[in-house]
Amino acid sequence: MSGLTHKVSIIGMGFVGLTTAAVFAKKGALVYGVDSDENKIDIIRKGRAPFFEPKLDALVKRAVAQKRLVPTSSIAEAIDNSDLTFICVGTPMNSDGSVNLDYVARVSLQIGQVIKDSRKYHVFCVKSTVPPGTTGNVVTKNIEAGSNKQRSTDFGIAMTPEFLREGSAVEDSLNPHIIVIGTGDKKVDSRVHSFFRNLYGPRTKILKTNIVTAELIKYSNNSFLATKISFINTIANVCNKIPGADVDIIAGAIGTDPRIGSQFLSAGPGYGGSCFPKDVSGFIQFCKTLGLDPTLLEATDRVNKLQAQAVIDLVKHGLGPISGKSITVLGTSFKKNTDDIRESVSIRVIDKLLELGAIVRIHDPMAMDNTRTVFGNKIEYPASLANALKNTDCVVLMTDWDDYRVITEKMIRKFTSKCAVIDTKRFLQVKETADIKYLAIGKTKATLSSH
Ligand SMILES: NC(=O)c1ccc[n+]([C@@H]2O[C@H](COP(=O)([O-])OP(=O)(O)OC[C@H]3O[C@@H](n4cnc5c(N)ncnc54)[C@H](O)[C@@H]3O)[C@@H](O)[C@H]2O)c1
Repeated sequence: MSGLTHKVSIIGMGFVGLTTAAVFAKKGALVYGVDSDENKIDIIRKGRAPFFEPKLDALVKRAVAQKRLVPTSSIAEAIDNSDLTFICVGTPMNSDGSVNLDYVARVSLQIGQVIKDSRKYHVFCVKSTVPPGTTGNVVTKNIEAGSNKQRSTDFGIAMTPEFLREGSAVEDSLNPHIIVIGTGDKKVDSRVHSFFRNLYGPRTKILKTNIVTAELIKYSNNSFLATKISFINTIANVCNKIPGADVDIIAGAIGTDPRIGSQFLSAGPGYGGSCFPKDVSGFIQFCKTLGLDPTLLEATDRVNKLQAQAVIDLVKHGLGPISGKSITVLGTSFKKNTDDIRESVSIRVIDKLLELGAIVRIHDPMAMDNTRTVFGNKIEYPASLANALKNTDCVVLMTDWDDYRVITEKMIRKFTSKCAVIDTKRFLQVKETADIKYLAIGKTKATLSSH
């Protein structure tokens, strides 16, 4: 069977759903992409992605032109024309830190309504990140309730967690390090497995397990990575108290130990984005429902939240009193190569700077519009990097966009006379001079006093 024979639908055309749809289409499947947001569907119909993700626009454009990706706002049209459906709706954080399953619950009921009168056997795969038990207790139950049909006999269910990273989502989807298929059902397993094998070939690692283990794999994966970041940020903060200590050299050394590994040991202002903060928090709440004490995960979360203060402490150290000073924040997206500002630490840092009376201006190659929706006219949005640096008292590098590689002490001196540079990622090519004070997270020349 070739990829061409696969007809799939994907519900939710966000970062995960649209990237998955475009990649499945590139690999030869016919994909119906559904979203309840008509505006998003209109943009995709025009062959564009509604958000910035490297290489995605080109992939979407081709897939739509070749009619391999069919954007629609009708779940019924998508399911009727496919045999396999991936659920990729959002699972945001509730105000108490738990996982909001409203979108997952609603879409499952809608699916139930759609398959009510169908005589075709259809398989539904949950790709959204959901707490263990959700695929069985919410998705399956709601499809059954909406359709009056029975799982196994009338339709199949699997859980296939997603591991793509924003900023390299297309690459990650084209070449996943693993595909996890969670299902306890042989018929479903055979369908989903043959779909992925046909599309991805014999070399891609496919792990088969049950549904709850698949759900737990995703939370374990993100919690471990988040813990690694909080660990190295703890070491970075120790370095900031010890003259001469350098977190990058430490990370480089311990990263050569195969038991540790070198990735995710880059100290900085803390993790953000639409996944780590909500997944760690959701997992904490889930562990509590089991009567467990999630001390390690709580520490990871707490260290991360405190790290924004480490940035502010460096600003105070470099600048003295903050009130009335012009501060340029470089990078508001939660990482480079995305315009996503969800849970970005930059947002928290800007909030704190405003609270302390700073006049804040920002620069970001892609996320200016999204940032404007958060801060409106409370901050300034200079049109160029040069304007962002003009007469500033302090530059805070938050996101390591390649665009900021050009910044040197000479460049800064062209635009402003005296300035503190706070480099949260040790990324800038700026040398300290008489007029430019350079301070970095995890790397100090002199002992910093705490404020
Ligand atoms: N963003 C990531 O990097 C990433 C990585 C791995 C896993 N995940 C997980 O994947 C899931 C989706 O994440 P995302 O970032 O793509 O979310 P998103 O918020 O960007 O997109 C979700 C989309 O689903 C649509 N939607 C919601 N309800 C719908 C319905 N009933 N019918 C049709 N469309 C509907 C929304 O309009 C939205 O476009 C989440 O569970 C997330 O935790 C995300």
